[in-house]
Amino acid sequence: MRADSTITDNAVTITSTRSLGTDVSLIAFHCPGIAEHARPGNFVNIKISPQNQPLLRRPFSIHNVEGDTVEIMAKSVGCGTTMLCGSPVGAELQVLGPLGNSFTVDSPEFEIALLVSGGIGTAPMRFLEKSLHTAGKKVCHVIGGKTGRDVQTAGLTNCFIATEDGSEGFEGTVVDLLRDKFSYFSESRSAKVFSCGPNPMLKALAEFCKENSLPCEASLESIMGCGIGICYGCTVELKKISGSGTTTILLCQDGPVVDAERLLF
Ligand SMILES: Cc1cc2nc3c(=O)[nH]c(=O)nc-3n(C[C@H](O)[C@H](O)[C@H](O)COP(=O)(O)OP(=O)(O)OC[C@H]3O[C@@H](n4cnc5c(N)ncnc54)[C@H](O)[C@@H]3O)c2cc1C
Ligand code: FES
Repeated sequence: MRADSTITDNAVTITSTRSLGTDVSLIAFHCPGIAEHARPGNFVNIKISPQNQPLLRRPFSIHNVEGDTVEIMAKSVGCGTTMLCGSPVGAELQVLGPLGNSFTVDSPEFEIALLVSGGIGTAPMRFLEKSLHTAGKKVCHVIGGKTGRDVQTAGLTNCFIATEDGSEGFEGTVVDLLRDKFSYFSESRSAKVFSCGPNPMLKALAEFCKENSLPCEASLESIMGCGIGICYGCTVELKKISGSGTTTILLCQDGPVVDAERLLF
């Protein structure tokens, strides 16, 4: 959990928007307070409209930080995200962040990072790739979607694609692709997996990593309210870090990044 003093609530103005297909947009805003303290895996909680609808803030991973500018990648799935994806340059947002914990990028246990993501789970991977490069690590992305339209590679390097319908790249899931090409991707060096995506993908990936004794961090999602540990709306049950049994965490504070070995689903 981060020190509360680094979290700020900011009135920001959208400085750029870019559509990446029909339902995904990149949205940038100038926010020195969040840019200075953001770490890969952190998220922001956004009040999208000053009106009552939607009443609660919505959580988004930090996609990129460039100087004082913070960027998010949003997929339109409901009222808040549709409103956000349709917001023009100049629109105002209230943005709380940076929130949550972060991926561990500078550990000596690995030389090459395999960034495995599915669908909108690719959102945190750009900031993560940059941080890993700064830490001197090699990065390889394995990105999946149901079809080619679900795959996002904006700003990423060294990407390998898997689609379930075979419309782009390898036909199958990201875990099928990883199983097929693991020694090629890892270059037979010490590897660590960083992941974000739908729960079935994370579950299959956690099993693959366990079978292959690979460390794996996973960024999870839950419905969130406050984003700062007050409402208890984001509880997730995980295996205990040591010993047997389970424990419940607040994903907004003790996550969203967890050791994949702890996943129960
Ligand atoms: C830590 C975290 C980081 C996230 N990062 C991103 C990101 O970078 N980009 C992005 O597009 N989305 C991200 N999400 C998911 C995003 O917050 C939800 O899609 C959003 O809150 C939905 O709001 P809405 O008003 O559009 O949907 P609503 O109208 O509230 O709901 C529409 C549908 O979406 C479902 N839904 C609502 N919240 C979530 C959720 N958190 N996860 C999955 N389904 C949900 C609802 O059950 C419902 O079926 C993240 C979620 C979390 C917890
Ligand atoms: S979202 Fe309120 S406690 Fe986590």
